[in-house]
Amino acid sequence: MSIYAHITGWGTAIPEKILTNEEISTMVDTNPEWIVERTGIRTRHIAAPEDTSATLGAAASLKALEMANVPPSAVDLVITATSSPAYVFPATASLIQDSIGATNAGAFDLSAACTGFIFALNMATQLIRSGQIKTAVVVGAETLSRYVDWTDRGTCILFGDGAGAFVLQASSVQGGVISSVMRSDGSGGDLLSVPASGSAMPATAKTIEQGMHFIKMNGREVFRFATRVMARASEEAIEKAEWRLDQVEIIIPHQANKRIIEAAARGLKLPIEKFAINVDKYGNTSTASIPIAAVEMVENGRLKKNDKTVLVGFGAGLTWGAVTVIWKEPFPADKSVNIDFYQFLARIRSFLLRVARRIEGLIWGRKAPK
Ligand SMILES: CC(C)(COP(=O)(O)OP(=O)(O)OC[C@H]1O[C@@H](n2cnc3c(N)ncnc32)[C@H](O)[C@@H]1OP(=O)(O)O)[C@@H](O)C(=O)NCCC(=O)NCCS
Repeated sequence: MSIYAHITGWGTAIPEKILTNEEISTMVDTNPEWIVERTGIRTRHIAAPEDTSATLGAAASLKALEMANVPPSAVDLVITATSSPAYVFPATASLIQDSIGATNAGAFDLSAACTGFIFALNMATQLIRSGQIKTAVVVGAETLSRYVDWTDRGTCILFGDGAGAFVLQASSVQGGVISSVMRSDGSGGDLLSVPASGSAMPATAKTIEQGMHFIKMNGREVFRFATRVMARASEEAIEKAEWRLDQVEIIIPHQANKRIIEAAARGLKLPIEKFAINVDKYGNTSTASIPIAAVEMVENGRLKKNDKTVLVGFGAGLTWGAVTVIWKEPFPADKSVNIDFYQFLARIRSFLLRVARRIEGLIWGRKAPK
């Protein structure tokens, strides 16, 4: 019997604070009309100081679990795609796993920049389809505002914060994630990067003074690359799914720049109405942009049950990829799950574990050989 991986729950976490083009125009030498004309972006959301990619990712995951009616203890795996992890390590996925109370899950981060959510979705799908796991939470979570140089007009206009999450569940019913394309060309790694604070360029006073811990980008070249790969990746995924292009109801692309999405539409010879676009409101939220756009399309009725859907992304690496999905409604629940209760239990468990580790440390410390 074949096993399929269905998307059965989804949620987002969007920070309250909105940063407008008008406000950015008071910070760098730009103007609102230029930003809208060249990117389509009007506003982006900025995380509150107390938020991280982990807190936003956890909030989105809890909403997705609630919709799927899945208790956190039933989750086998949390994969977080992020370009702005809370720490180098521990993985942001582990922080999310603890925060949501997924006490029986493994967790890891996946680094493929803005394409990360596509790759993570495919990883979770393959683990489900091979029978290794039954339930996964796939998260795209970003606080890119912390990596943006707010004096660089070429990049600070583009990025925003937010998170989106999908719950994937095993089912014998045909559907869910059908096919995937995953590609990389590392020779273009220097076109979009955060040069310092990895092992290649450890953070020092000098690297900070030079702003090397901020996003550096060759916008023109990234634009060219993006317009080349979006249509091709979508076509390859559609072909692998053995669909025809005219059967696709909606394409949900990475939201980086409206002109890039328009170029993809021209490349595929499809009307722009076939594409989900919300870059105007959120800017480029990297790994979070595809799930945020998908959730918005469900909420406004454009993405419906049984729709043949393509999710397609590109980003630093360089990386690019696409998946085809037959969209599903949340599985009918046996009984409804009270996520607040499970999160309350998770908080108590986490607290008790910390206390136990402290006591163990004290006892072990006293017994340590001299
Ligand atoms: C960054 C981007 C918006 C710039 O738009 P563009 O039309 O390509 O602009 P160019 O880089 O060709 O620059 C044109 C001019 O506008 C200027 N410019 C750049 N940013 C500007 C801004 N915010 N406001 C006003 N002028 C700006 C440039 O300095 C340049 O001036 P010059 O001709 O005097 O040198 C565009 O290249 C882009 O979106 N690239 C892809 C980026 C991306 O998606 N990154 C994430 C990938 S996941």
